[in-house]
Amino acid sequence: MNVAGHLTSQDAIQLEHRYGAHNYHPLPVVLSKGEGVYVWDVEGKRYYDFLSAYSAVNQGHCHPKIVEAMVEQAKKLTLTSRAFYNDMLGRYEQYVSEYFGYDKVLPMNTGAEAVETAIKLCRKWAYEKKGIPEQEAKIIVCENNFHGRTTTIISFSNDVDARKNFGPYTPGFIKIPYDDTEALEKVLKEEKNIAGLLVEPIQGEAGVYVPSEGYLKKADALCKQHEVLFIADEIQTGIARTGKLLAVQHEDVRPDILILGKALSGGAYPVSAVLADDAIIEVIKPGQHGSTFGGNPIAAAVAIAALEVVKDEKLAENAAALGSFFREQIAAYSQTSEVVKLVRGKGLLNAIVVNDTEDGDLAWNICVALKENGLLAKPTHGNIIRFAPPLVMNKEQLQECIDIIVKTLKSFE
Ligand SMILES: Cc1ncc(COP(=O)(O)O)c(C=O)c1O
Repeated sequence: MNVAGHLTSQDAIQLEHRYGAHNYHPLPVVLSKGEGVYVWDVEGKRYYDFLSAYSAVNQGHCHPKIVEAMVEQAKKLTLTSRAFYNDMLGRYEQYVSEYFGYDKVLPMNTGAEAVETAIKLCRKWAYEKKGIPEQEAKIIVCENNFHGRTTTIISFSNDVDARKNFGPYTPGFIKIPYDDTEALEKVLKEEKNIAGLLVEPIQGEAGVYVPSEGYLKKADALCKQHEVLFIADEIQTGIARTGKLLAVQHEDVRPDILILGKALSGGAYPVSAVLADDAIIEVIKPGQHGSTFGGNPIAAAVAIAALEVVKDEKLAENAAALGSFFREQIAAYSQTSEVVKLVRGKGLLNAIVVNDTEDGDLAWNICVALKENGLLAKPTHGNIIRFAPPLVMNKEQLQECIDIIVKTLKSFE
């Protein structure tokens, strides 16, 4: 097969449909190029990307510094496995640990793997340090969470599509409402053998649900009080997306275990990580956890470059400023709108709730119309559209995007 030959959008969609498992429902657009805040389809039409690969491409598409780091490393050494040392991993481990202020990192590849790693780390800590009897450790999670799609993770999801017919489910999790410190306190007081609380600082997939101010701080304090690890899943919210390096920093919280993925590589490569201090992370010994590709030299080089870009280009500051502007403009529009009920978010992780039911099709139809008008976004539910552009956007570009969004919404009024 000539993989370099030209395909029309229809050809590409038909190929995926015929030969790929139908585990996604993409918008009908076929992309072949990306640069900064833009992507182009195979017919050459340009779009603003307002999904950023679910917040993986915070640094913008094909950032030259990240691509260069990847290409240069790919020419030298791609993979050794962890059977041997390599000359990139230690450098990266030092860089990322100091960058986020932890003693050590455990490198993995995808977000779900990093969540699994954090769960294993938390359980092992609970047995070996906290003294919970073996097999008894429980981790508290929140309703409407999204932490990935492995068997264990979907065991504590309440998304029917993610769970149904994938059982039997992994035990050891207690689900409580999100943004509810009373519920948390009650469980911590009443249940024995709690090892950790796993929480998203903002629930992204649930529809960019921002918890009340003070929630994270209080939850963290309750965890400390009960010797329970506060585990933050910052895979979507981290790395400048919400206007701070980490979303927990809006409330001065320092998680015991920090989970990162997505933008850790600027979307160039699957890189994820779990960070913690020695008292926790050192419970894992050789042979007890790992991954062939975790911490490979390309991942290490790419992640260092991706994190440098975040600081050099002040992406957190930009996300904070542009995010406020975006919400102001859309909130002003929503005042007189029959279609938009509200806009919410932090930094450049935002969503609008539209006037439909959770399983309606208004959000989808708006996204199709946005695509026609040159902007790509995706519903998280039938009535919620997430807006998460690359953080390298400037104000003029954002204004143009707001104009496209408003014009499109008006056509649905
Ligand atoms: C908060 C959160 N955790 C975990 C994941 C899973 O990451 P991955 O798809 O890389 O496995 C995601 C992906 O959207 C996420 O948003």
